[in-house]
Amino acid sequence: MKSANSPTEHGKLLQWVDEMARMCKPDSVYWCDGSREEYDSLMAGAVASGSAIVLKKRPNSFLFRSQPSDVARVEDRTYISTREQAEAGPTNNWLETDELKGIMRGLYDGCMRGRTMYVIPFSMGPIGSPIAKIGIEITDSPYVVCNMHIMTRVGTRVLDHLGTDGEFIPCMHSVGAPLGKGEKDAAWPCAPMDKKYISHFPEEDLIWSYGSGYGGNALLGKKCLALRIASAMAKREGWMAEHMLILRLISPEGRKYHIAAAFPSASGKTNLAMIEPTVPGWKAECIGDDISWMKIGPDGRLYAINPEAGFFGVAPGTSYSSNPAAMETIKENCIYTNCGLTDDGDIWWEGMTKEPPGHTIDWQGKDWTPDSPEPTAHPNARFTAPARQCPIISPDWEKPEGVPIDIFIFGGRRASTVPLVHEAFDWEHGVFMGATASSETTAANIGAIGNVRRDPFAMKPFCGYNMGDYFAHWLEMGKRLGDKAPRIFYTNWFRKTDDGRWLWPGFGENSRVLKWMCERIDGKAEAQRTAIGYMPATENLDLEGLEIPPDDMEELLRVDHTAWIEEVKDMREHFTQFGDRLPKALEAQLKALEDRLGT
Ligand code: GTP
Ligand code: SPV
Ligand code: MN
Repeated sequence: MKSANSPTEHGKLLQWVDEMARMCKPDSVYWCDGSREEYDSLMAGAVASGSAIVLKKRPNSFLFRSQPSDVARVEDRTYISTREQAEAGPTNNWLETDELKGIMRGLYDGCMRGRTMYVIPFSMGPIGSPIAKIGIEITDSPYVVCNMHIMTRVGTRVLDHLGTDGEFIPCMHSVGAPLGKGEKDAAWPCAPMDKKYISHFPEEDLIWSYGSGYGGNALLGKKCLALRIASAMAKREGWMAEHMLILRLISPEGRKYHIAAAFPSASGKTNLAMIEPTVPGWKAECIGDDISWMKIGPDGRLYAINPEAGFFGVAPGTSYSSNPAAMETIKENCIYTNCGLTDDGDIWWEGMTKEPPGHTIDWQGKDWTPDSPEPTAHPNARFTAPARQCPIISPDWEKPEGVPIDIFIFGGRRASTVPLVHEAFDWEHGVFMGATASSETTAANIGAIGNVRRDPFAMKPFCGYNMGDYFAHWLEMGKRLGDKAPRIFYTNWFRKTDDGRWLWPGFGENSRVLKWMCERIDGKAEAQRTAIGYMPATENLDLEGLEIPPDDMEELLRVDHTAWIEEVKDMREHFTQFGDRLPKALEAQLKALEDRLGT
């Protein structure tokens, strides 16, 4: 086996790469330098082999179609592996470390035959930022290498920063599809579902992923490193790694507010991160759309960075009317996965334009017309786009020290019960709101769609340790932050009428709710004290110019006590699973809510 280039003298790194190569037995090993030439040549190879399609209408952009079974994250096949199950907690799949490694070593053995093993040095966060971390991903997928080029900071400069003994997080990945001699490769190689394993070993900061080439299963800097491993590190080291967008809102007077919001997968983070406010005079800048790493700064406030360098965004529903900044971001230099292909060489997805094209090739390569029963884009079709191309990216988005957070928002998709917005009474109550957050499941995970589940802090699939301890960590951070802690709110943009109509227009109009939050922290906006938190009355929100029936507003801002009494029953059941790992303060919060509701 030949190693084309090995541009480092980092002993531990060389040893790990060598060990993985001996296990996976690739034809060759290639160290990625992160250059444009490298990207271009990998893409040229993907086009030549038929796994990528050049998009004539979008400069330097390519369409990939995945295998129909490999279209999203696989929570059922995702593991947090520790010595003791209690450390992974009740919300994670668990296998004992030696057992899981044994299974996976068997799968990895010879899994890269006929393929190249790529070594990708990458930084999560601006290289050299005090909040950033370095990872090394090994993969046999050129698609993964190209996506990592966009999503993270890749290349030789990362190795230079690492030096000969810097710390890195090893991220092992294989699509799990060795090639026999002369065997033709699949357009999207991957392993069957029961052979996929997305494994995390937080006790040794190690990731082993096998069998999937899609999104968070394969781009290991994202959910695996930046959330599952990082959340466990953050707990040990006293910082936070959260599934949150970061945005800066600027008032007409020029005051800047920094907001970090946790919504579950496919529930509005990218859209809020790139909001174009409809309230006159208010402006927004995007800092990140999926992940926030936060540390307490020298002034005692909480500072956030976006560890990523790109957006891996949900395609369907993205349009010039819903998210113009995203549409501008994805004009060129993008990778599209599982979108429809138009006859003139562009991509299209449901909701992108009012009028659908008359004919497309759908995400499975079949002819599609507006009369076809299935959508042309898979519901979890995605674009991979460089963050720097976003027209409203903040000039401070790569500031090494991050931006100071003023407001946290939790939320989810709930057709009923949960009002448009409510505000926590204090930090502990806010942590309770995060810990009991709920949402309908989406196509971002393989499994049933539309089921309401508790998704605490939008972290159910991403917390790398016992969720009860994670709640305790949030409480502890609040104690350390004291009166400098961000204020906490809860939103639900997804209320529907019984006949399935959205009650709230959403998107840019969400700025009306954000404005109220900013005025709340400045002590300028009124609120009513309700059983579930502080809430605006209709007249406390700036609804100028918005045509919304008063009955709809009333419904959006109503606390339905009967429905909430059912809600707290489910919250109690949710809390039961944590046993004695549930912080007493949250038990007390639940009791207090029950009392306020009069149960
Ligand atoms: P992940 O990348 O999976 O973490 O998703 P996300 O949280 O970034 O979700 P995203 O912003 O991509 O939105 C997912 C879907 O929800 C898209 O189809 C959006 O069009 C839709 N959506 C986003 N914001 C709103 C809103 O305010 N109202 C309504 N009705 N739909 C929204
Ligand atoms: C999510 O599911 O929350 C995503 C997409 O952001 S993925 O990268 O596949 O995890
Ligand atoms: Mn996400």
